[in-house]
Amino acid sequence: MHKIEIQTVPFTGQKPGTSGLRKKVTEFQQTHYLENFVQAIFNAIGPTQGETLIIGGDGRYYNSKAIQIIIKMAAANGFAKLLIGQDGILSTPAASCLIRKYKTFGGVILSASHNPGGPTEDFGIKFNGDNGGPATESVTDKIYSQTLKLNHYFTLDRQDINLSELGTHKILDTEVEVIDPVTDYADMMMGIFDFDKIKSLLERDDFKLSIDAMHAVNGPYATEIIEHRLGACKGSVINAIPLTDFGGGHPDPNLVHAHELVSLINEDQSMNFAAAFDGDGDRNLLLGHNFYINPCDSLAVITANAHLIPGYASGISGVARSMPTSRAVDRVASVMNIHCYETPTGWKFFGNLLDAKKITFCGEESFGTGSSHIREKDGLWAVLFWLNLIAEKSSQDSNTSVKKIVEEHWRQFGRDYFTRHDYESIDSSNAQNMFSELKEKLNELEGRKFNGLNVISADNFQYCDPVDGSVTKDQGVRIFLENDSRIVYRLSGTGTAGATLRLYIDQYDDNPDMEDNDPQKVLSKLIIAADEIAGIREFTGRKSPDVIT
Ligand code: G1P
Ligand code: ZN
Repeated sequence: MHKIEIQTVPFTGQKPGTSGLRKKVTEFQQTHYLENFVQAIFNAIGPTQGETLIIGGDGRYYNSKAIQIIIKMAAANGFAKLLIGQDGILSTPAASCLIRKYKTFGGVILSASHNPGGPTEDFGIKFNGDNGGPATESVTDKIYSQTLKLNHYFTLDRQDINLSELGTHKILDTEVEVIDPVTDYADMMMGIFDFDKIKSLLERDDFKLSIDAMHAVNGPYATEIIEHRLGACKGSVINAIPLTDFGGGHPDPNLVHAHELVSLINEDQSMNFAAAFDGDGDRNLLLGHNFYINPCDSLAVITANAHLIPGYASGISGVARSMPTSRAVDRVASVMNIHCYETPTGWKFFGNLLDAKKITFCGEESFGTGSSHIREKDGLWAVLFWLNLIAEKSSQDSNTSVKKIVEEHWRQFGRDYFTRHDYESIDSSNAQNMFSELKEKLNELEGRKFNGLNVISADNFQYCDPVDGSVTKDQGVRIFLENDSRIVYRLSGTGTAGATLRLYIDQYDDNPDMEDNDPQKVLSKLIIAADEIAGIREFTGRKSPDVIT
């Protein structure tokens, strides 16, 4: 076995998006395609000699092939040690946990998150740095510029490594350790939450839950934590076996793709709590009986109740939300007298704030919630937070429920109605034209009325990172209207086909109706105004969105 140098030519289009490089599997399968990107990462972050690297992925199609390629390349690039999840499995939160716990140089995570998997579906790769978080913009820019000038990469001529058994292998000068992907993460959760209290809740005859792993990476994690360590009855975790194509499903935990779970909890009178995760386990969908917890509200409720959870009882420093996320958490922060930061879309923007201890909690409307325990959003963490919260609240009111907790929150802080409309796979040039026209008229919108609603101000969001001073521009168009309402337009940075327009709408109500309160109805005037302002139907040729959350 020895190190070999392979000649290659650059691929255009290897620019990392909101969360790493995501493409169709078929694109990744082109000769040298993955290798080029991996070498570009190593060149950008190097020198790699003597360092330790975590490698794992969500188990989707091409995961096992890609891991073998990366192991050989990492050894040829001089890493001293590789820690690999058994069978190539690591959830994104677990990878972040391991990078931090073992103080490694970083990690390579293989996932296309909530995008479908399979031979004709999506694959992805991203690099997380030594803080456990997604590479910052400056690192991804370096990686991209490497992809444009690369002419060779290093690998080894040797057999694949057996990743199905725990143990250590030596390849060249590199130690490759196959580790249990779940234990470290599960131990960390036990250090944050009151497992005894949650256990007593789950033991109650009148408390039933269903956790849907959607045949994705969180199956083994949820089974170990919810069923084994917390004692929920067997079968509480459904679709628990990770499959390369996620069982043909769409591992995106929202009301559309997790509709079976929604029916399950609503039809079963005795079921109190349900949750689902995405492909790599960092997103969460939370449900109560006949009740959906909007992720924006979840972040606000978590912040308001931090003192009830052991890991946060000593106080929290601040909070952050991505710009399109509703301003529900801002209202809590203002009452608690802590700072609330507004960042561009993407978890990478929370990293500096967390490292500088400016924030404890952060979240995005896109089913992402997390805290300073790691540097990724964390689906199971959110579930455990809510279970711990329900357990705490039920000591005061044995009939408490998810619905009661959120309604109590709205009574105290008011409600920010929120919706997101996605127009998927639209023609890229039409999408660009729509945005160019919208940006051109931004200065003229103030004071004008659309569908009877007055525009207070409009801008193209930009962010100045308070820690390193870096400025990120062009992060979405914001229109603020009367009645504390807001319309946001942006283009997705994670799609792999055409363009995806995301339209976000929210409106505050300080005295919300607890019965007649469907957000689509409450926000209907704004939805029409959003089309009037940007000409969505005209530019996209679509009458309605593909997904509403
Ligand atoms: C989407 C979400 C964003 C999230 C990202 C990665 O990105 O909107 O909040 O951080 O996936 O999970 P987008 O496709 O909108 O660029
Ligand atoms: Zn994800």
